[in-house]
Amino acid sequence: MNRPKVFLTRKWPTSIETKLISLFDVTLNEQDIPLSADEFRSALQNYDAVCPSVCDAFPADVLNVPDKRCKILGNFGVGFNHIDIDAAQQQGLVVTNTPGVLTQSTADIAMTLLLMSARRGAEGDRLVRSGQWSGWCPTQMMSSDVTGASLGLIGFGRIAQAMARKAHHGFGMNIYYFKPSAADQAVIEELNATRCERVEDLLPICDFVSLHCPGGESTHHLINETRLKMMKSTAHLINTARGDVIDSQALIKALKDHWITGAGLDVYEGEPKIHPEFLQLDNVTLLPHLGSATIVTRTAMGEKVLNNLIAFFNGQPLLDRVV
Ligand code: DGY
Repeated sequence: MNRPKVFLTRKWPTSIETKLISLFDVTLNEQDIPLSADEFRSALQNYDAVCPSVCDAFPADVLNVPDKRCKILGNFGVGFNHIDIDAAQQQGLVVTNTPGVLTQSTADIAMTLLLMSARRGAEGDRLVRSGQWSGWCPTQMMSSDVTGASLGLIGFGRIAQAMARKAHHGFGMNIYYFKPSAADQAVIEELNATRCERVEDLLPICDFVSLHCPGGESTHHLINETRLKMMKSTAHLINTARGDVIDSQALIKALKDHWITGAGLDVYEGEPKIHPEFLQLDNVTLLPHLGSATIVTRTAMGEKVLNNLIAFFNGQPLLDRVV
């Protein structure tokens, strides 16, 4: 029997590519060049499985391409807001993702951004590299305390809870969270966490606010001008979720006019484009979507896709089925 044809939109960890090649008829993106909508359409017409990563857009007008061969989108990533899930379902496409394996590494990056923003880490690095550092002095680069401060998490899934654990047990932070329904009692007790019923209740009381909700229409610009104005002027906003959860224009105003003290961003609206005004601001720390970027995590994400494809082509139940 012919082996299923599998298409990877980007370069993956070599060990996973090697395993995939041993099982399927695989086309790699060896040059790792981002592909166009037309290239995605053609992949859907010519392969049994297409495996996008989180910055490859699959809107309805790509998924609706006629004469599709593709049966499954094996997404390399937990977030799937780049795929029009309703359109995929209407087209009879199965979609899988990679939950669970990137929890700790993403929470680590959220904590990294929190610490960098609070303690002005990136700014200090720039100062040293510029050759302008004139030595220690009592009032230089004073910053915000992390230990004992309050942390508000918007969204309280796996990654948010992992961050809360690091923040509470490692830094003695007081945990608040917003989530439509209450978290498990055991988690609440372990973290001594307080639930806020509305985002508006959480924003004014937290020294740090970290975003962990999914992207998509329901959270688009959740953090807007009105809500930024509700935050403490000493607060920092951290985003490792999806770029469009924050209205970038409003955040730029908030940082320029010091409605808040700082922000740490790993994700951007229209990524990889970044609003040029962010680059001019010293009080924002900018990382290039590093949340899951450890060797172990990216390999585990690849393993998840691999196992989903194996199960799919063997007619077995899928562990990480989105639709
Ligand atoms: C995901 O998997 O959704 C992450 O954003 C990748 O780092």
